[in-house]
Amino acid sequence: MQVDTLILGAGAAGLHCAAHAGPGTLVVDHAKAPGEKIRISGGGRCNFTNLYAGPDNFLSANPHFCKSALARYTQWDFIDLVGRHGIAWHEKTLGQLFCDSAAKDIIRMLLDEMTTAGADLWLRTEIGEITHDGARFHVTLDREGRRQNVTARNLVVATGGKSIPKMGATGLAYDIARQFDVPVTPTRAGLVPFTFSDNPFAGLSGVSAPVRVAAEDGTSFDEALLFTHRGLSGPAMLQISNYWHEGEALSLNLAPAEDLFETLRTARQRAGRKGLSGLLPLPGRLVDHLAGLHDLSGNIADWSDARLRGLCDALTDWQVRPSGTEGYRTAEVTLGGIDTDALSSRTMAVKALPALHFIGEAVDVTGWLGGYNFQWAWSSAHAAGRAI
Ligand code: FDA
Repeated sequence: MQVDTLILGAGAAGLHCAAHAGPGTLVVDHAKAPGEKIRISGGGRCNFTNLYAGPDNFLSANPHFCKSALARYTQWDFIDLVGRHGIAWHEKTLGQLFCDSAAKDIIRMLLDEMTTAGADLWLRTEIGEITHDGARFHVTLDREGRRQNVTARNLVVATGGKSIPKMGATGLAYDIARQFDVPVTPTRAGLVPFTFSDNPFAGLSGVSAPVRVAAEDGTSFDEALLFTHRGLSGPAMLQISNYWHEGEALSLNLAPAEDLFETLRTARQRAGRKGLSGLLPLPGRLVDHLAGLHDLSGNIADWSDARLRGLCDALTDWQVRPSGTEGYRTAEVTLGGIDTDALSSRTMAVKALPALHFIGEAVDVTGWLGGYNFQWAWSSAHAAGRAI
């Protein structure tokens, strides 16, 4: 069978690319259903983009690479598409847009768009050998037990990263890259909870608090921290995990929205006879835990400025050193990937073999938590689809 364009992977990037690549496009995936990560994303409501998405929200060895694609297919283009399909949405927080109803609406929209454009989809299809004869790609596929040889002028690799192997993630994109001498930057789990050996926070499991968390490179996020039976999670921790490297410490500020020292000094004037621990603006179980680390005894009236200052410094720069992360098992994304130096930022094509494209999470462009990763999938898919 001959097609114009073969797209490997029917996830966010592959489906969106098919809608732009048009007739003569075949999308293949080993999964039973398309867009499985879309379906479970955003708690089933899909945080499909972010109002404030821009190049600064992405990590890459080359931070400029994502600019062109993001500028030529913006969050407003995707919001417009969603609107044309009558999908109602709302902003939850920090510019994060979610479907009012269900993530399935986004999958249905992407399938409608690709079908209208004349593209086909084969599911339950295993990808075998891939070769290029100088003019066309030859790909061996196994479609539900039947061998199919497909030749294609263009090949688009949209098989994502390594995150959540249980959901069908594989390192296929990196293998294909290596086969065609395309360099791959080291990969690691991103947007992932932290683990601690002998988790010192086990007793706090379920407690949540707003924090400012900072990595050693100075990057910080103000979001919620969640203590878990394995370590630290919640949006603040997922965000900072993209900037954390093994062995490094994190700094937690437990009072990001206020001047804790002034708050406690004022409390001392008003309520001198109260115990200090009852005046800390933190969940009770967290205060009990902190009492095991710091001397919180006595009425606040007994606390000198110097002693208060020392405590405030400790609570606004609480150093914790994770032993690791939960890894690809639960990571929302994969950092690193196809080296952007090898790709055209306009078309996502391999410079040395322009009929070969890499899009979506497989590429070394990773967004923050909050709809940015889907926006990269839409933008990079559009760039490749339009260029084909
Ligand atoms: P994606 O992983 O979506 O698709 C790859 C496709 O390739 C899959 O269909 C897979 O089956 C197929 N494939 C892989 N290997 C194959 C092989 N060997 N043979 C055949 N097919 C193969 N982002 C965001 O912006 N907002 C959000 O709300 C969320 N929420 C979220 C929740 C969870 C639990 C996860 C794990 C991730 C998110 N994300 C997110 C991240 C987002 O899901 C991710 O960035 C995009 O799905 C990436 O799109 P891609 O199309 O590149 O890969």
